[in-house]
Amino acid sequence: MGLLDKVAQFTTAKDLQAAGLYPYFRVIESAQENTVQIGGKRVIMLGSNNYLGLTNHPRVKEAAKAAIDKYGSGCAGSRFLNGTLDIHVELEEKLARLVHKEAAIVFSTGMMVNLGVISSLVGRNDTVIVDRTDHASILDGTRLSFGKVRKYRHNDMESLERVLASCETDGKLIVIDGVFSMHGDVADLPRIVELAERHDAVVMVDDAHGIGVMGNQGRGTSDHFGLTDRVHLIMGTFSKSLASVGGFIASDADTIHYIRHIARSLIFSASMPPASVASVSAAVDVMLEEEWRLEQLWRNTRIMMERLHEAGFDTGPSETPIIPARIGDDVKAFQMTQRLFEEGVFVNSVVSPAVEKGDALIRLSLMATHTEDEIHEAMDILTRVGRELGVV
Ligand SMILES: Cc1ncc(COP(=O)(O)O)c(C=O)c1O
Repeated sequence: MGLLDKVAQFTTAKDLQAAGLYPYFRVIESAQENTVQIGGKRVIMLGSNNYLGLTNHPRVKEAAKAAIDKYGSGCAGSRFLNGTLDIHVELEEKLARLVHKEAAIVFSTGMMVNLGVISSLVGRNDTVIVDRTDHASILDGTRLSFGKVRKYRHNDMESLERVLASCETDGKLIVIDGVFSMHGDVADLPRIVELAERHDAVVMVDDAHGIGVMGNQGRGTSDHFGLTDRVHLIMGTFSKSLASVGGFIASDADTIHYIRHIARSLIFSASMPPASVASVSAAVDVMLEEEWRLEQLWRNTRIMMERLHEAGFDTGPSETPIIPARIGDDVKAFQMTQRLFEEGVFVNSVVSPAVEKGDALIRLSLMATHTEDEIHEAMDILTRVGRELGVV
């Protein structure tokens, strides 16, 4: 078979386009807000990770503009060589304080944090242990490491214990999403930490969806459980609550020292541009000062969850502002997404292989800046479309 035969044979997306059900790469003509403009039309945005609603915040935007004025548009190199600015270092200190760790280092995306951290820590004689539903960037990080990879059933502590007990290596790293990105449930961190300690394993929490959402003032899932001291590595991304792009890892000073000299996705890639660094720094300040955002986010979550249940949607194990509504069939999930879009609501469909076949869902996520009226308006539409398609 020729190399490019697979290109010709890949028809999934074109089939969806032909059926008028293609839900990807939708072009947005406005800021990433509670409502957005698409094709000239107002749509309620329930598919964004902008949980605190900070991407269009005046202070965040001013900080980005000022950074461009002072430092220009890019760093033209890696953190390792010419790409470290004073604002990178200040941001790292701020993030370490935020999650109560000694030190932190920022990478250019969250994906690159997971690739770099996991591959640099897990060597030939180590094992990396992951939850089956961990984010793709974690799974890809395990592929880049030279160690053994073991998976356990989603949030199933007996399964984790079996894996730990049968591990043949001394070095063990457990990596989990703090808040799982598809189903919106929270890792059983108290049990994970306990098992890790019993089996001498190190714990890393990917808190992409936990920072800004969980814990005191949005300090994350480890803080929520009061387990920061027993979680060795805390990872976060800036592409969700922190209103920009980039990511970080925080830990003790020696571990961060090691990672900054070994992680290839840090060393062999350009550093975060000044505007992004300044945006994140301002977003952290706003998050800590405007505590109403976190409260409103959770209030909105409760309203949405209640209305979904009233309407008869199955929201699975979700307990956070990420709320999946189970649809079942892949095609039906695409139909639901398309019909909702036509009626003025933007949601994402999640189909196999991201979830098991027959378990397709639409994924709703809330923002602090959604008004109650918008949530009710969206829910009226969701209920109507859900009935029309026989989902509820
Ligand atoms: C759990 C999780 N980890 C890591 C990432 C990657 O983050 P980024 O978008 O910064 O590359 C994401 C984002 O999709 C995520 O949901």
